[in-house]
Amino acid sequence: MVRRKLTALALLLGLAGTAALAQPLPEEGRDIHEGVASCATSVCHGKVSADPAANVWLNEYRIWLRQDYHSRAYRTLQSAQSQAIAAKLGLPSAHAAKICLDCHADNVTAEARGRRFQISDGVGCEACHGGGGQWLESHAEASTSHADNVAKGMYPTELPLARARLCLSCHLGTKDKFATHEIMGAGHPRLAFELETFTVNQPAHYEVDADYRERKPAIAPVNMWLAGLAITGMHTLELLQEDWFTKPSLVPELSFFQCHACHHPMDDLRWSEEADGLPPGSVRLNDASLVLLLAVLETLEPDAVDPLRSDLNALHRASQQSRQQVVTAARTLQQRLEPLAERLGNDTYGTEQQRLLRRELLAQAAAQRFRHFTAAEQAFLAVETLSLSLGDAPRLKSPLDALYGSVEDENRFVPQQFAVLARQLMGAL
Ligand code: HEC
Ligand code: HEC
Ligand code: HEC
Ligand code: HEC
Repeated sequence: MVRRKLTALALLLGLAGTAALAQPLPEEGRDIHEGVASCATSVCHGKVSADPAANVWLNEYRIWLRQDYHSRAYRTLQSAQSQAIAAKLGLPSAHAAKICLDCHADNVTAEARGRRFQISDGVGCEACHGGGGQWLESHAEASTSHADNVAKGMYPTELPLARARLCLSCHLGTKDKFATHEIMGAGHPRLAFELETFTVNQPAHYEVDADYRERKPAIAPVNMWLAGLAITGMHTLELLQEDWFTKPSLVPELSFFQCHACHHPMDDLRWSEEADGLPPGSVRLNDASLVLLLAVLETLEPDAVDPLRSDLNALHRASQQSRQQVVTAARTLQQRLEPLAERLGNDTYGTEQQRLLRRELLAQAAAQRFRHFTAAEQAFLAVETLSLSLGDAPRLKSPLDALYGSVEDENRFVPQQFAVLARQLMGAL
């Protein structure tokens, strides 16, 4: 049974969460982006090592520069791989092409670029924290609160729903930028995302310690994962209503579909009846985050399962009919998810509930409910997050590693093997 957080913090979070959905993304805001150089001096965020006297580390620039993939995102566009991609797409160069810069740099308009702005900084501070035009001067003053900064255009990266939207803007796409099948066909890696895992995998330039908690909410890994799932689902459904999917063409935009529906050898027959009821040979929309959400709701909110499953199946049926029907079905499902996303981000989940969640996910995996690679990948990441949160990941290392082995390479993914290994992990719990 779900317990709501009854503290003032939960209330604050709930309200802030709703507002966060309305907050413009850093790339959409009107504020001037002053450039990484404006953050990086040695009296600001460019110290050599963490400053024990300050609220924040103040060596964020160095961590970003030396360890964070985002600082090399522009340089990636100068690599041989990017040059090859650009050539296949008929672009003169990748590092000058808007379609690449939109995700590999802080590609705001010319008017929004400050004096020290450099596109070659890649995904810099303000690509995540928002243009500093209005808050750069004031945010370092002792009297300034985080709320003051947010009011002046700083992006609320601390809130799970807002953070998910931010990361997904590049790790999935928006109405303005998208990693299309054409780009992938030219050699771009498939984009995969899970909020909690990517949060942990981004080299930390901050610490959620006592003084952080005084200023901002500390979000449990389980909530980060659940909020990420819900927002990924909603974000995908929103994109299905945009030009990327609705523009008329004989073949629809294929990156919305399960890649391996098409990309797998014909002597490896995988058909089996699925919950969505589509006939053999159907090209299916990638519904990984929604399928995972359904599995989660079996434990957390059983009453929500049937309506959601019925809407999801309607979306799958629509995908075999017409774009207009997809738009309608996607909108219905998106609206159903909205209140759910708020709850999953904010509710508190105790040890027992996390155990039940993990068991249900593994039971569904063992019953081959995650037959598509993208769903199996998300299921593994979820089980890993829950095991880390429950503290028994070290004891379960060997079966967890084995399960990971089955999703490590999407080209070698065998659904039955994933199911067997999930059962083994369940036996070891
Ligand atoms: C402006 C676009 C943009 C935003 C916003 C963004 N990323 Fe990224 N991210 C990228 C690009 C581009 C790369 C690949 C960089 C490279 O390797 O050249 C990347 C790479 C990463 C990687 C490394 C992936 C790997 O293969 O291990 C992690 C982890 C990551 N991002 C996490 C995040 C998180 C967490 C957020 C949200 C807080 C986020 N990103 C927001 C564009 C973005
Ligand atoms: C919708 C956003 C988006 C667009 C558009 C996009 N990329 Fe990326 N790209 C990413 C992200 C995110 C990653 C990191 C993926 C990961 O590791 O999870 C990435 C990874 C890459 C990588 C692999 C980097 C590595 O270290 O393995 C290359 C190369 C690349 N992109 C080149 C390009 C080029 C060239 C273009 C333009 C034709 C382009 N990208 C357009 C978001 C995008
Ligand atoms: C890919 C997105 C991303 C990039 C790029 C990025 N950050 Fe962050 N940053 C975050 C997230 C997420 C957090 C943690 C959530 C929070 O506290 O807002 C964070 C936290 C921080 C904090 C700690 C805030 C606190 O209250 O303790 C500081 C300071 C900071 N970032 C500065 C920087 C600087 C300076 C740069 C550039 C050198 C930078 N960040 C680049 C996403 C990013
Ligand atoms: C409806 C079927 C279909 C779906 C779904 C699909 N693709 Fe493709 N893909 C194709 C076809 C057809 C080609 C062109 C093959 C050729 O030119 O030989 C292709 C080509 C490619 C190529 C280039 C292969 C080569 O040898 O040049 C890559 C990479 C690729 N797809 C990745 C993906 C990814 C990643 C996804 C999922 C996000 C995906 N595809 C979804 C049908 C599909």
